[in-house]
Amino acid sequence: MVTARRPLIAGNWKMNLDHLQSIAFVQKLAWNLKDAKHDAATVEAAIFPPFTDLRSVQTLIDADKLELELGAQDLSDNDSGAFTGDISGAFLSKLAVKYVIVGHSERRTIHLESDEVVASKVAAAHRNGLVPVVCVGETADDLEKHGPSAVPVAQLKAALAAVPSSAEIVVAYEPVWAIGSGQAATPDQAQQVCAALRATLVDLLGADAAASTRVLYGGSVKASNIASFMREPDVDGALVGGASLDITEFASIIRYQNHVGV
Ligand code: PGA
Repeated sequence: MVTARRPLIAGNWKMNLDHLQSIAFVQKLAWNLKDAKHDAATVEAAIFPPFTDLRSVQTLIDADKLELELGAQDLSDNDSGAFTGDISGAFLSKLAVKYVIVGHSERRTIHLESDEVVASKVAAAHRNGLVPVVCVGETADDLEKHGPSAVPVAQLKAALAAVPSSAEIVVAYEPVWAIGSGQAATPDQAQQVCAALRATLVDLLGADAAASTRVLYGGSVKASNIASFMREPDVDGALVGGASLDITEFASIIRYQNHVGV
């Protein structure tokens, strides 16, 4: 049986837009999607603002019943206590946050997050009722030394070590060399690694869970290339950085099904 996976377009704002800017942005994005008669049942859209914006955006989504899901960019692997500067998954859950990015390459490189820390954060997300968007991806050096799939597959295995096979997760394949570089992977390259990740999910979670888990591609996704990625059978959406900060561009990515030639 083929399981239909609802595509997910996720906008990772990184450290951009303060809470006032986030309100104006989300209002305009929602109007834009409404004007274009976007149907959220067909393609799910989620935004991942900085922590300080979450309450404002949540209030807006709630009051205006916007068809946008809310995500956070990171969480602590602990739920409370003496962890200065960290944010608990329990707090995110209280803000009606649905998704949380875990193991983004910027966390792995700038904050030196190891595979063990990523696994423990994935477990914290699950424990608090959040869906982790587990990021994996190889550097240009890894690609040369180990080929395309070895590092992302090893990272995925490590990341899921501490959650039950019933846990809902989203996987995001983001080649580090493609993030913010303007040089996206080709659709073929994305498909090859996303298929290898799905095969790994079959081993780790079983065939049914693997068939219903969304595997996203991320790295220099734009309105002009999204449709070509979405034609690939194992690519179920995108994690979008830079292009998610432009309302027209991001709305167009969400509405990729309406692009000419799709
Ligand atoms: P980019 O970032 O779309 O700007 O390449 C993607 C990401 O870091 O998630």
